[in-house]
Amino acid sequence: MKESLSACLFNGQILHPGQLTLPELARGFMYGDGVFETLRARNFVIFRWQDHWERLVKGLSLCQIHLEKECHQIKQEIVKLLTRYQLYDAYVRVNVWRKQPDIFDPGKEEGGHLLIFARPFCPYPAADYLQGISCLVSQRFQKNENSALACVKSLNMLENILARLEAKQSGYQDAFLCNTRSYLSEATTANIFFVKNGVICTPDLESGALPGITRKIILSLCSQKNLPVQEGKFFPEQLKTASEVFLTNTLMGVLPVREVAGIFSGKNFPFAHMLQDELNHLFLEETSGQYQKNT
Ligand SMILES: Cc1ncc(COP(=O)(O)O)c(C=O)c1O
Repeated sequence: MKESLSACLFNGQILHPGQLTLPELARGFMYGDGVFETLRARNFVIFRWQDHWERLVKGLSLCQIHLEKECHQIKQEIVKLLTRYQLYDAYVRVNVWRKQPDIFDPGKEEGGHLLIFARPFCPYPAADYLQGISCLVSQRFQKNENSALACVKSLNMLENILARLEAKQSGYQDAFLCNTRSYLSEATTANIFFVKNGVICTPDLESGALPGITRKIILSLCSQKNLPVQEGKFFPEQLKTASEVFLTNTLMGVLPVREVAGIFSGKNFPFAHMLQDELNHLFLEETSGQYQKNT
């Protein structure tokens, strides 16, 4: 993924990232007092915009941040940005954070800043889809499934970032987080799935998993294909007898896992590959530019 931002829209104005000043960025930067969405767009069509919008709105409501713009206005702004920079296959990030003040207590401030940025989409390495990635179960960080924020994509990802570092420092690519009751919750930036006796299993939302948009698509694809699914509470040890483990998010799609340290190892990923193909098909179809869904 390129580090530099290609295109940036702040409160509706095109600008270069260097033009943003600390007073504007303050609450997002100092307290993580906001939410975000990561999107994929192709041919100036945002994939599953309505779902992302609904999750953003729920997060904003929980955070008591008010955005003056409506769903269709923000969609228009994203499309304007993508068109202006001719980003035909793009990664887009929508960030909203509380405007003021730059002190801890936000008082009655509910106004939000909106920053949208976009750059060319850069896929995960092809080898990861063929061989799968390696993961461990974090020993240091947990997801608090009891918190109202469990379902919010908040600007504060510190626990997930540190769990990712924990994995990297032990030679693994990603970490799984358990919740306070030791059930599997999610990976640091993705939802977890595994296949056991032909059943596709995933931690339920009560386990503290973020309600992933890709997770929702995968569950719906399974249902269309009459594949048995179980959303539930699972201990990491239950992966021992899984035939496959895979992760899902908007940017990776469906990514196989070849190892969960000390628990799971796998070489063949038929379900993950089939679901990735199906997801890709859906993505290409809905973003062909001809697909007229009013979202
Ligand atoms: C912690 C976490 N869980 C799950 C997901 C997957 O969500 P989505 O499929 O909407 O990208 C993400 C995405 O970034 C995430 O950060």
